Amino acid sequence: MTTQNKASNEYDVIIIGAGAAGLMCAIAAGQRGRRVLVTDHANKVGKKILMSGGGRCNFTNMYSAPENFICNNPHFVKSALSRYTPWHFIELVEKHQIAYHEKKLGQLFCDESSKQIVQMLLAECASAGVKIITDTSVQVVETGGQKLLETPQGKLQCESVVIATGSLSIPKMGATGFGFELARKLDISVLPTRAGLVPVVLDDHKLKPLAELSGISLDTITEANQNSFHENILFTHRGLSGPAILQASSYWQPGEPLKIDMFPGIELAGYLAEMRVEKSKTALKTILAEKLTRRVAQLWCEQWVEDKPLGQLSDTDIEHIVSQCQPWTVKPSGTEGYRTAEVTLGGIDTDALSSKTMECKNHPGLYFIGEVVDVTGHLGGHNFQWAWASGHAAGQFV
Ligand code: FDA
Repeated sequence: MTTQNKASNEYDVIIIGAGAAGLMCAIAAGQRGRRVLVTDHANKVGKKILMSGGGRCNFTNMYSAPENFICNNPHFVKSALSRYTPWHFIELVEKHQIAYHEKKLGQLFCDESSKQIVQMLLAECASAGVKIITDTSVQVVETGGQKLLETPQGKLQCESVVIATGSLSIPKMGATGFGFELARKLDISVLPTRAGLVPVVLDDHKLKPLAELSGISLDTITEANQNSFHENILFTHRGLSGPAILQASSYWQPGEPLKIDMFPGIELAGYLAEMRVEKSKTALKTILAEKLTRRVAQLWCEQWVEDKPLGQLSDTDIEHIVSQCQPWTVKPSGTEGYRTAEVTLGGIDTDALSSKTMECKNHPGLYFIGEVVDVTGHLGGHNFQWAWASGHAAGQFV
């Protein structure tokens, strides 16, 4: 249905938030002939896309699957993800001749710049007749049959309102709790939120010497709450970061430890026992440095294990060394919080939404998509895949 003769303050669909999910939803709805307006309070669209993937946007993951998402109802994501797969987005990227590559583990990045993804979305919006206004804050005033919105420039009307305002991560980039506040006003359940994909902070004075290792990364298997990730950790001046820590942070709860196997794939006790015979004169530090780097091995030997020739290690010594490295159990005092978090865990309770349409069960015509919903992806392109898939799902029905 097209409604081109409506007055300029009347639309079929108004989408609040011109990020990844909002723009994708606008394209899908516009292509169906719906008259779509996208509004954003920021001065430009897609700021998180622009800053993502170190400026190259890890725009999807070839292996994105429901297991890559954290949600109170793990089945919720299946419908949208199966109807808009990474291959649909790749097709769009190829249509716009954007060169890309797989970095690792199915993670696809632009060869040149994340600007290309924003330009692609804007070009698709333009050809679908979508109108976009930035620098505009909006209030949703009426959510009955016909929806009424207020902006400093006047009132707007529409049939469907889509909330695509993202979540609380990186307030400096324009992140707000707009979606949660609106939901609470309308008695829509919001699950508690916390920072995800975020570095952790180590305040324990016993761990202070680790700051010397800032900048060093190590291959590990890092585990939080029985979820483990074989990736690098990175020592920072405040604690730990790197992909393994970011992934684990989404499962970590305050007060709990992280378990970091610093010798992935090696049974350390057996290895040291073997080396004790084969290289009895070699110092422990030297053997540890082969896997841990010289500086990490040195610090471990200064702080937590005693350096001595391997031939002098007793079985108890080996047990102690293993207890300090495999895993190294460390209790973060917290995370760096929303200031640096890539995502926000929790959000709009999926029980309140249809997984097929993303529409609110108790508020016909009101939709929530993207990160504002209680769906959080693993690191590696899964969060954008959720934004595209949930935006596309809603775009078929708004
Ligand atoms: P998004 O945050 O993109 O968009 C929300 C929009 O709503 C914004 O434009 C905002 O200005 C607007 N808005 C907010 N409040 C408003 C209000 N009150 N009124 C009007 N407008 C409002 N993911 C991934 O898959 N691969 C990657 O490489 C990265 N990299 C990455 C790096 C960094 C530094 C961050 C912070 C995040 C990532 N992510 C990522 C995560 C990814 O950016 C995120 O999951 C998606 O952008 C979420 O898309 P949404 O459209 O839901 O929100």
